[in-house]
Amino acid sequence: MTKISIAIDGPASAGKSTVAKILAKDLGYIYLDTGAMYRAITYAALKSNCDLASEEAIAKLLPTTTISFKQTEQGQLVFINDEDVTEAIRKPDVTNAVSQVAAQAAVRTDLVRRQQAFGEEGGIVMDGRDIGTAVLPNAEVKIFLVASVIERAERRYKENIENGIETDFETLKKEIEDRDFKDTTRKISPLVQAEDALKIDTTGMGIAEVVTAIKDQVTLKM
Ligand code: C5P
Repeated sequence: MTKISIAIDGPASAGKSTVAKILAKDLGYIYLDTGAMYRAITYAALKSNCDLASEEAIAKLLPTTTISFKQTEQGQLVFINDEDVTEAIRKPDVTNAVSQVAAQAAVRTDLVRRQQAFGEEGGIVMDGRDIGTAVLPNAEVKIFLVASVIERAERRYKENIENGIETDFETLKKEIEDRDFKDTTRKISPLVQAEDALKIDTTGMGIAEVVTAIKDQVTLKM
């Protein structure tokens, strides 16, 4: 059976990674979380006390920051060189700085090249902001996943509670709105729906329903 490429883009906390992981598992495909790669560079920049506004300083970090993924029973782990950064890259300091770093030309050029290398053979589900428009413009299936900001904040809030993290709902909502604004208004590869992407508004939809809707698209292309 042909191994196709599936691009899933959308704003923060729209459920992209949850559905992408299920799809990859069910289809026997690779899953690539491109947001984790931008988060990893941001983490490396914060750790080395880089001025995040200095494109030059961050560009210097790129050649020595090897990002890799390891599949385990507990899920996918993210490494920078030999350091397991799976949890560290989800912390608020990284989340609130990542859009500034992801807007920089050198960072995008480097990471897009790495992502395209992962996707060369097909058989991949990639999620991010610019997958259908810049990373995999020829992906057979392109999905643009959205949900209302309230619902996205509620999902993140519940997830935090389940993980024992105390957060203020209004702060979460504001952080999501700020990140959406930065991601949609940046100059290079802003978050935008690819012309040939199918938009799915997941507000009020369950995960299984979203996965089924995407699988229907996949079946049409196989
Ligand atoms: O998907 P996630 O929320 O982990 O992404 C973190 C950030 O990385 C986004 O807010 C965005 O600034 C950046 N990003 C990007 N392009 C991608 C994936 C993520 O600019 N393909």
